[in-house]
Amino acid sequence: MDVDRDVDKIREDFPLLKHVTFLDCANISTPNRRWLEAIMEFWRLRLAGRDDIANHPFLSEKAMHAKKEAAKLINAKEEEICYIYRVVTALNLVKMLIDWRRGDNVVFTDLAYPSSSHTWFNLRKLGVEMRRVRNVDGIIRLEDLEKAIDDRTRIVCINQTAWTTGFTYDVRAVCEVAHEHGALVVDDAFQSLGAVVCDVEEMDVDILVSGSYKWQCGPEGAGIFYIKEELIEEFDPFYSNYLNIETPRGIRFWFPDHDNVKDYEYPPVRTADRFDMGMCTGDILWGWDEALRYLNELGPEAIERRVKRLGGYCIERLKELGCKVNTPEEPEMRHGLISYTTGRYSVDKESFEAMRSNMPRPIVASLRYQGGVGGVRFSIHFYNTEEDIDHAIEVQRRVLKRHS
Ligand SMILES: Cc1ncc(COP(=O)(O)O)c(C=O)c1O
Repeated sequence: MDVDRDVDKIREDFPLLKHVTFLDCANISTPNRRWLEAIMEFWRLRLAGRDDIANHPFLSEKAMHAKKEAAKLINAKEEEICYIYRVVTALNLVKMLIDWRRGDNVVFTDLAYPSSSHTWFNLRKLGVEMRRVRNVDGIIRLEDLEKAIDDRTRIVCINQTAWTTGFTYDVRAVCEVAHEHGALVVDDAFQSLGAVVCDVEEMDVDILVSGSYKWQCGPEGAGIFYIKEELIEEFDPFYSNYLNIETPRGIRFWFPDHDNVKDYEYPPVRTADRFDMGMCTGDILWGWDEALRYLNELGPEAIERRVKRLGGYCIERLKELGCKVNTPEEPEMRHGLISYTTGRYSVDKESFEAMRSNMPRPIVASLRYQGGVGGVRFSIHFYNTEEDIDHAIEVQRRVLKRHS
């Protein structure tokens, strides 16, 4: 399918789009028929007693296939990826891997999602310093990050695309600065992956995490934990999973001499699976596998081109209305997550509510603020059209007219 030519067909895969102008995948995506069907198939098989096919993730080929699709999407090796349940699970995992020392520091920003700050807070008890870089007009300047990073920085935690303003980093440039000081970059790409190309090799990022249910358009409850191959064996998992160890004698469940000590005193596997916390379920992974296939079929480059073009169109239309757009205009610093304000909180709120209650066709968007910036947030994805944007702009124009 061609993401531009076949957009009508694509829209049929997202049934809600028939009734609603959906601009809210930065919150939670609207279900896609393909993954819904995959999840139903999982349960149909279970109902039919086919647990030889539909079973725990590690006993189900399709569940493990999601890793292949995820690796393809971010240009990683399958061995560099393990599953996570939520992004916050992955951030906590990173926290537990590091051997923290008094005087170390973690760098994050005031635009980062609260889990990218809050997760590190209790490290203060160990004498670890929290360093928060402030945004300037919705943007994190590289020079400000650079000032905060030093040789005691262990982690630089960024959100590749800021969840409120849509500002998108040059991740490679951040990695260059961090690596000069021996710091690791943890990229929470939840608001980017699925909308733009995220090539881990090109970005040279150390750890990338992303959930299934926003721009990836998948079901909730799965996600990617990517870790650079050369870093894998540097870390011993703190969280133990008896399935992620070397098993020279194979799984022994079905042998009479199976022993729950002797058979488990082996080192963790040498792939990212050593960090897998065993939190994902078979049905969700079946659905997510399908969602990832969908993105790979459409092609991340083609999706990025469309999303950026529509994002640019939206910015232009908002400026015509006199709104202040918080998202940078330059396509390399944003995609389709567009935030703007009317200049007054009460009018932003009224606009958001007017969109929600617009009949016969509601507009689903969000209202989000953090770090002193925010407003109404549109998430424009590949299934959206110029007409969707025009529709939202028209409702915004009516609200502004009431206040003129
Ligand atoms: C950038 C970012 N990271 C993390 C999250 C939360 O992810 P999870 O609920 O999977 O921990 C969000 C949710 O909005 C987000 O925008």
